Parts: sequence; structure tokens; C-alpha cells
Amino acid sequence: MKKILVTGSVGQIGSELTMLLRKMYGNDNVVAGINRTQPTGQLKESGPYEKADCTNAQQIAAVVKKYKIDTIYHLAAILSAVAEAKPGLAWNVNINGLYNVLEIAREHNCSVFVPSSIGAFGPNTPQDNTPQDTIQRPNTMYGVTKVAGELLCDYYYKKFGVDTRGVRYPGIISNETLPGGGTTDYAVDIYYEAIKNKRYTCFLKPGTFLDMMYMPDALKAAVDLMEADPNKLKHRNAFNVTSMSVDPEMMAESIRKHIPEFEIDYDVDPVRQEIADSWPNNMDDSAATEEWGWSYEYDLDKMTADMLKVLSEKLKK
Ligand code: SER
Repeated sequence: MKKILVTGSVGQIGSELTMLLRKMYGNDNVVAGINRTQPTGQLKESGPYEKADCTNAQQIAAVVKKYKIDTIYHLAAILSAVAEAKPGLAWNVNINGLYNVLEIAREHNCSVFVPSSIGAFGPNTPQDNTPQDTIQRPNTMYGVTKVAGELLCDYYYKKFGVDTRGVRYPGIISNETLPGGGTTDYAVDIYYEAIKNKRYTCFLKPGTFLDMMYMPDALKAAVDLMEADPNKLKHRNAFNVTSMSVDPEMMAESIRKHIPEFEIDYDVDPVRQEIADSWPNNMDDSAATEEWGWSYEYDLDKMTADMLKVLSEKLKK
């Protein structure tokens, strides 16, 4: 049985991935790595949790030794909008933190899952059907750290044989834990506001197309890639994965199928708009499909139906 550490386990993806991994591999075999935010509820009660700040190599190493960890899902990261406001913090967490995790993985023979992002692309990248291997050159601090992270993961595999694997996530939409400071966060906020106020003021312009994905598919991508036959992987890291390419108007239209009076208006945030404009409209994820069988379950309307159902219940409480 695998022994897993999830860094960033109280974050948007971590909080749900940790619970899924506990279901799959047993509660006691999945350690929730935390930093400043304490776990609560199920996450806290269902299995072990430990302080595991990725910028503190000793702390990570101690957890890996204590639980004989062989697999690390390294989710602790600073997202794009926060990274623009705090570039030093983004460098420290996204680069130095990743370096620490990879070094510990090398020493203790751990497999490592590391998410990259649509943010690893830049304004010179072909924006439509963005190929797996293409020009990147992002112009955000987030993107700089994500490209460097992709390369570092490839390097640790080639040079030291560390089993690194990863995907380029699009914007992730979820109903459990809010995302923290990303450019794609509007696509989560819009559902909360649709239920609470039947209107939403969006910080990105209409016509801003970005790749998105519903959380169940994001979790499936991580787990399926980590379970994939390594002999079939030509790439190891930074697989493009996507479920839909949408703009705010399309999301509003999808919500109106359930809440006809829903209205959207716009108050554009120039920082996040510039970031979004530098990212792909839609990625080609055929390499992920060919090499490890990637497919998604939720398109926009299926996701909207589920988001509105789950959030209506949650916000009633
Ligand atoms: N959702 C992330 C962000 O907006 C992209 O990886 O920063």
C-alpha cells in the first residue's frame, strides 16, 4: 500500500484530493501536510495531519521519515494573482519549496506529483489548440515559477531517476474549498453569487476564453497519471489537460438554464485581465489521452448543474 503525503492539503485541490486518496489507499496511509491553516472537519478527523511547510526542508523530511512516505502530491503553491502581488513569496514557495520536495524525494525514493498550469504559457504561445510542446515564455511570476518547476521535475527524472509526474491544470472549479488568489477564480465565485444574489460582477472581460475543469476531473487526472504505466509515458511532467474552454458569458448562459433571472456585469481588474490574456484559449490535451488515457467527465452544463445543486444545499446551512 502506498504511503502518501499531500502538501497544501487544506487548499482548493488538496482538501478534496486528500479525502479521495484516503478512500483509495486507506485513511492512515495519507498524511495531510499543512502549513498555516489548520485542517477542520473530515480532513482533520479522518487521518493523520502534520506540519509540512515546503519551504522548510527539515520539516518535510521529518514527515517523510516518520510515515515512511513513498509518494508525495506536492500541491502547496502560490497562485497567479497573489504571485504578482508578492513575487518573492511566489519564488520561495513555488521554486524553493519544490526544490526541497524533489531533493527529499530523491533521497527517500518517493514518486512526486507536481501540478503545473495554463499559467506556464505566455503571450507568444499559440493561443488556440495550444500544443503540448510549444513556446512558453510566460510574463508573470507565477508562470516563471511554473515553467521552471516543469523543467526541474524533468531534470530530477532524467538525472536522478525520481518518478516525477504532473499536469498543466486549467482553472479548477469546485464547491468545497475556495481557491486562493488565482486569475480563474471568477469561475468559482460566479456560482456562489448566482445562488446568493442572482447576479455577479466579473473581473475578466466577456470574450476571455480560458480552459477550465470541474474538481472531480482534476482529481481523476492526478490519480490516473500517478497510477499510469511509466513505460507508456513519453512526457512525464506538464501534460496539458482540459475539459472545456469558456468565457464569462458562456458560464452565465449555462447558469441561466437553471436561474433564468441571473445577470452578469463587468468591473475588469487590469492585472488579472492581463494575466488571462497571456494564457491559452484552449489547450490540446491529446498527449495526455494517448499516453495515459486522460478523459474528462464534466462539460460546462454538466458541471453547472452539479455546482448549483451542491452549493444550494451548502449555502442553505
Ligand atoms: N487557477 C490558477 C490561477 O488562476 C491557474 O493555474 O492562478
